[in-house]
Amino acid sequence: MTIWNLGSINIDLVYDVPHLPGAGETLAAGSMTRGLGGKGANMSVAAARAAGRVAHIGAVGADGRWAAELMLEYGVDTRFIARVDAPTGHAVIAVEPSGENLIMILGGANRAVPEDLIGRALSEASAGDIFLTQNETNGQARAVRMARDLGLKVTYAAAPFDALAVQEVLPMLDLLVLNEVEASQLEAATGLDPKTLPVADVIVTLGARGCRWYGADGVRDYPALPVAPVDTTGAGDTFTGYVVAGLDQGLPMPQAIAQALRAAAIMVTRHGTADVIPDLKDVQDARF
Ligand code: RIB
Repeated sequence: MTIWNLGSINIDLVYDVPHLPGAGETLAAGSMTRGLGGKGANMSVAAARAAGRVAHIGAVGADGRWAAELMLEYGVDTRFIARVDAPTGHAVIAVEPSGENLIMILGGANRAVPEDLIGRALSEASAGDIFLTQNETNGQARAVRMARDLGLKVTYAAAPFDALAVQEVLPMLDLLVLNEVEASQLEAATGLDPKTLPVADVIVTLGARGCRWYGADGVRDYPALPVAPVDTTGAGDTFTGYVVAGLDQGLPMPQAIAQALRAAAIMVTRHGTADVIPDLKDVQDARF
């Protein structure tokens, strides 16, 4: 089946810093690298590296053609990435030696995805395909509704968190992925904890502690694998892309999660975002 991902494509500018800056602080970075990123692109690349068939729906400006070309090279179907009259989205990312980061994004082209593009892409979808989206583009609610009506299974990664954006799509989701801060924010906004949300499967990622899955048979914890992180950027996106690809390939949720946790563990030992997401062979061969 195919994974249809309406998602952001960013130019990631990654600065390595001695510590994350505080308010009013000027900080000298040791180095700066530029690479492909964006929660959407990261998830598409992760799902493709997990041997999934992935079509990305999104937009770049004239300055981001290379990003779409790279996604194609990484095995993503890029026919539904539009070139629009806006600068490509970008992210300024500071990473400290512990691997923790601080990210600022500018949406740019990600917030100018042409309305008709989503319909054109999904007209090629089949019932049983997966539709995936996050909160870095325009058009999510409409796209989720359309995907749902076409019989696709819908996954939403609630980042960057916006309570209204999640609530708009909540009743139409099959799988919701969020971290524990986002889970508390959602509970504060709706009064519903992950167990009582109207979604069949909810995964709360817990960083270095792994994740918790709320499914039909109850709640189950999955510990993270022991690694020394150098850069946590994109680890959550890698996890989600791998979970979705695993489910698309017919893996039961526990196996899809186990594989995704291995991928995320490798990811935090690497510097960079989409460019360094591990492939399935790395994930299967890794010894922790
Ligand atoms: O989750 C990491 C991603 O968040 C980065 O690649 C950055 O572009 C932002 O979207």
